[in-house]
Amino acid sequence: MIRHPEIKPATELDQPARSLLEAAAGASRHAYSPYSGIAVGAALLTAGGRIHAGANVENGSYGLTVCAERTALFGAVAKNDRVFTLLAVASPHLEHLVPCGACLQCMAEFCPDLRILLQPRSGGVYETLLSRLLPVVFSAGPRSRLEGSK
Ligand code: THU
Repeated sequence: MIRHPEIKPATELDQPARSLLEAAAGASRHAYSPYSGIAVGAALLTAGGRIHAGANVENGSYGLTVCAERTALFGAVAKNDRVFTLLAVASPHLEHLVPCGACLQCMAEFCPDLRILLQPRSGGVYETLLSRLLPVVFSAGPRSRLEGSK
């Protein structure tokens, strides 16, 4: 169970959302996590209906570990998809399953209005918005540079 005022149990899940959760749970089976023993899968749905999935990839230096959310995102962007409507994250191990700050920041670079579904170990599905988990976003993009020079 996830207990946080900004994260609610999901009420209505349409078929694309269910498929995305399945893709995230499936991707968690490809986690490389010999150090933590924690598997996480993530899947992004594009505006055009494509799914990009990823899993966490750990490293012996620990600090170079990349979360499932970012492997899914970077894989999608590297294949030229940048517009996403939904992120699903699933883990058979974590009960408090919430994307880390680094992943939220990376998601916000492309999709500040992203809807997020979370499926922790106990199996329920929870729902939130990126803008609720990261209400204030650092931006160094072209727009903020223009605004700063006014
Ligand atoms: N992890 C993710 O992949 N996503 C999350 O939302 C939380 C944490 C991974 C990173 C690391 O491999 C393991 O879970 C333990 O932190």
